[in-house]
Amino acid sequence: MSAPAAASPAAASAEPAAASTNAATAPIDLGVIEADSGDDDSALGSGVDTDTTSLSSTLQDYVFENGRRYHRYLEGKYPLPNDETEQDRIDLHHHICLLSAGGNITFAPVQNPQRILDVGTGTGIWALDAAETWPSAEVIGTDLSPIQPTWTFANCRFEIDDAENTWTWPADHFDLIHSRFMAQTIRDWDKYLGQIYTHTKPGGYTEIVEIYCDIFCDDGSLPADGALRKYYNKWNELAEIAFGRKQPLMDEYIRDVEKAGFVDVKCYKRRQFLSPWPKDPVLKQIGRYGLLNIQTGFHAYGMALFTRLGGMTVEEATAMCEAAAVAGADVRQHCYNKIWFIVGRKPGGSDDN
Ligand SMILES: C[S@@+](CC[C@H](N)C(=O)[O-])C[C@H]1O[C@@H](n2cnc3c(N)ncnc32)[C@H](O)[C@@H]1O
Repeated sequence: MSAPAAASPAAASAEPAAASTNAATAPIDLGVIEADSGDDDSALGSGVDTDTTSLSSTLQDYVFENGRRYHRYLEGKYPLPNDETEQDRIDLHHHICLLSAGGNITFAPVQNPQRILDVGTGTGIWALDAAETWPSAEVIGTDLSPIQPTWTFANCRFEIDDAENTWTWPADHFDLIHSRFMAQTIRDWDKYLGQIYTHTKPGGYTEIVEIYCDIFCDDGSLPADGALRKYYNKWNELAEIAFGRKQPLMDEYIRDVEKAGFVDVKCYKRRQFLSPWPKDPVLKQIGRYGLLNIQTGFHAYGMALFTRLGGMTVEEATAMCEAAAVAGADVRQHCYNKIWFIVGRKPGGSDDN
């Protein structure tokens, strides 16, 4: 879990977008990324792994569907699987975040934090990293799914809880509340941010990390009617129905975090490449992990929405996911997603004295 080498200037040193500027709506301003011309066309050997998981009637905690395993507690609330394939993907996505943040587990400038909450902790990989980074802190990770390790650091524990319930933590309690890749599952985003604000200590921080689930390309190498475009169009159409809103843009996230009461809100903008197409070595490394991510990621994100809501057969949905994974692996298509690390401080505490 140790941090990887520092990211290149292009990956890690772009200035944060200040909340007060309108830069938030502008395209990401890292410039056009130079593509490496030396690779084979496809960085992916085969399509998405669609191996099925065997069903056991003794497993009461899970729902099995389309060869994937989903959470049973509050069944259907979160449309991504929680099986081992997905747990591996979450862990490598954590590594992409570390690489994107220059090896840091957070952009929040916390000093010696003593209480840390990681909401929707997944496999608990960020919480474990936080517990290792700050051994004197108590770190708590919560999730709908019981997929966290039973072995943890002594200062880290996990709880099964719905983040949309009313939180029972004391007010003004945590030095840092971390929330990553949760916007697609939380229905009442304002209430969620309000609870994060209430339970953050005055002077403490929140970091909200979100990926914008759409495909971007700056040099025209993405075919307009290709498999990636089709996948993201369909996914966004269905996600809007499932979650009752369009996914927020960066300036909307910033606005919402400010509206909750946080100040000094900054957004650190990064790119997640779908394959190792960039020439820059650190960006290429992010692309290598990005390629691993999409090998199962399109399937994880797509199957429940496409079949439960989109009326597709399993075969149609699988084909759409596989086609996107194959296109994403084509290093001639210079594509990326956007990741935003949004940090805010709760007023009060020694900084305001
Ligand atoms: C995409 S994963 C991200 C995991 C982790 N935050 C990370 O970045 O490594 C989203 C996680 O949020 C959890 N989740 C979704 N809705 C939730 C809710 N209402 N309350 C608690 N956890 C939730 C899911 O079970 C899943 O583990």
